[in-house]
Amino acid sequence: MKYIVSGGNKLFGKLTIDSAKNAILPIIAATIMCDEECVIKDIPLYLDVMEMTLILEKLGKKISFKNGNLIISGAINTTSVIMAETKTLRSSIFMMGSILSKYRKAILTYPGGCDIGKRPIDIHLAGLKKLGIKFTFANDLIYCDASKVFGNVVELSYPSVGATENIMMASTLLDGEITVIKNCAREPEIVELARFINSMGGKVFGAGYETIVIYGVKKLHKTEFKCIGDRIACGTYLIAGAMCGGRIELDGIDPNFLLPLIVFLRNSGCNIDLFSDRIILENFSRLKSIEKIETETYPGFPTDLQSPMLVMQTISKGISIIHETVFEARFKVASELQKMGAKISVSERYATVVGVSKLKPAQVVCPDLRGGAGLVLAGLVAHGKSEIDEIFHIERGYYNFDKNLKSLGAIIDKVD
Ligand code: EPZ
Repeated sequence: MKYIVSGGNKLFGKLTIDSAKNAILPIIAATIMCDEECVIKDIPLYLDVMEMTLILEKLGKKISFKNGNLIISGAINTTSVIMAETKTLRSSIFMMGSILSKYRKAILTYPGGCDIGKRPIDIHLAGLKKLGIKFTFANDLIYCDASKVFGNVVELSYPSVGATENIMMASTLLDGEITVIKNCAREPEIVELARFINSMGGKVFGAGYETIVIYGVKKLHKTEFKCIGDRIACGTYLIAGAMCGGRIELDGIDPNFLLPLIVFLRNSGCNIDLFSDRIILENFSRLKSIEKIETETYPGFPTDLQSPMLVMQTISKGISIIHETVFEARFKVASELQKMGAKISVSERYATVVGVSKLKPAQVVCPDLRGGAGLVLAGLVAHGKSEIDEIFHIERGYYNFDKNLKSLGAIIDKVD
């Protein structure tokens, strides 16, 4: 599948932001800890979400989609998560914590790296070992033994999102035990996972700050839950609006999740109005470059918006230096952008971008999820027809991406 994009149109109109992919994925894993019915409302059908529900179904959970809601119930009938899907889907690693919390044993396939880096799990394992969990490794499998698990103080060497979520879930059902996670990740999606666990009767406190405390409980009960909006999808549409020009309104998002981006967009020349649950962006002039952009863990500028921001710099006036501090291989999209006339030079974790007045249409291939979204943004400003191939990468993390952009006035079609 590919997108055919004809650039040059300004964007006008309103979008409602879908629920956050990176909140939904760990939340789906967390339902393994509860045998009663969990309803996750207004579920966007991201490919990653579909894969995650497929894994849960193969483990024995009952899965159904009704009126746009995802309904998960029943108990898993195996603690061995060994299937093809777990090789491609990084997020299956979250199942480790939730299965161990409830069943005290698990076998998982060692999660593959992916297109943006090795993606090790040493921080996950180090934290879980502090809870007395034992691991053995053989032919690409991880055998986990939590028969003697206990609460403990765990200090993360780096505020890893996945490790924070895994240890939070592993501690949830340690009845009567207390676990403290220090130097933990503070992303809004971490707060959402804690809120979800607490909605089932869990006791997780401090999520969103650098220390989380989990009081283990005996059992979790049914829940009905609606996730926050996807701040990365929202940021991507904001950057699209800034680049194409026009006036767009995005609702269903808390602007506090995107403050570093909003500062960058205002400094680039955009007018942005903020409300409690929506953002209005307007721009009718050429963007000014942002001299220095550095990705950081939350609440800093998010690595997941680095590719769309890189694309925005390619047509801004001036020079920009982008430093990617979170992943080691997240500039792959640069070589595709150079086919469109972008002036980018990459050395290790730095990209230097000299803005050009416009990009040329071209045939390009998505290297990864966020790089793919960036290529669509480039196509929206390149006058003429661009072809963007291997768009399955984009559909992993953006729902109705082409339909949403088309509703704002972009000319974009999905073709086989
Ligand atoms: C989550 O990945 C997100 N994925 C990523 O979004 C996001 O980019 C990342 O957090 C950072 O915000 C989901 O939530 C499903 P990390 P995760 O553990 O948990 C290294 C997207 O585009 N590290 O915070 O894997 C790791 O290699 C995706 O939606 C270790 O070294 O991120 C990376 O360099 C991409 N050892 C850095 O830490 C570990 O044990 C951040 O990883 C774990 C991580």
